[in-house]
Amino acid sequence: MIDPNDFVITRKRKKYKFAKFSNSPLCFEFDDWNKQVTDVIELGAGTGLFSVELAQRHPDKQFVAVDVKADRLQKGAYEAAARKLTNIRFLRARADQIDECFKEKSVETIWLTFADPFPKSRSSGRRMTHPNFLKKYQQLLHPKGSFIVKHDSLDFFNWSLERLVQEKWHIIELTFDLHESDYSNDYKIMTTYELRWSGEGKSTKLVRATHEQSD
Ligand SMILES: C[S@@+](CC[C@H](N)C(=O)[O-])C[C@H]1O[C@@H](n2cnc3c(N)ncnc32)[C@H](O)[C@@H]1O
Repeated sequence: MIDPNDFVITRKRKKYKFAKFSNSPLCFEFDDWNKQVTDVIELGAGTGLFSVELAQRHPDKQFVAVDVKADRLQKGAYEAAARKLTNIRFLRARADQIDECFKEKSVETIWLTFADPFPKSRSSGRRMTHPNFLKKYQQLLHPKGSFIVKHDSLDFFNWSLERLVQEKWHIIELTFDLHESDYSNDYKIMTTYELRWSGEGKSTKLVRATHEQSD
């Protein structure tokens, strides 16, 4: 039985979260963002708690968690504030606006964590590893910068690998079972989505790619 009051409460709760986003000095709307210097971006960051943990581990680097959903991002922003972090920001923007948010060739790492897979082929243009997006990432990354994708769906991951190769990216690190690999402990920080679904038995796949040939 659906109770309409539940919807009223849900809407109020969302409004409350939006208000928290706009009250936080760490949160920015696309229109208010002025290309702040950034080393690491997380795209489709959700709560951004993955970036919060990375930011705590790397106080010398500047992080930005990007998502379209303010109600999710505010969660990371308040956690960052509670941890007294000064090297992370939360930006509400669409992935296709990303090239307008940062200076060209200035970013060290772009993370894409558990992007919406858009499984229907007619929606493939919305996948955040589509060549249209890869071109924007290439524009932002400095020559030795890395694009790192973490995902649980084998279909999405394989499709993304094919797009990377097709667009002449170089695969530097690749695993189909991250948590059983010897790769960096930073990579193994669980995102909110990953924590929620890790009990389902799906392995986390990871690829790190660069566009310019590394030495
Ligand atoms: C499956 S969730 C994963 C969230 C987070 N990365 C995690 O692992 O917990 C995908 C996220 O991508 C965001 N998203 C989807 N399309 C987007 C777009 N075009 N631009 C920015 N964010 C987007 C959604 O709002 C959602 O928070």
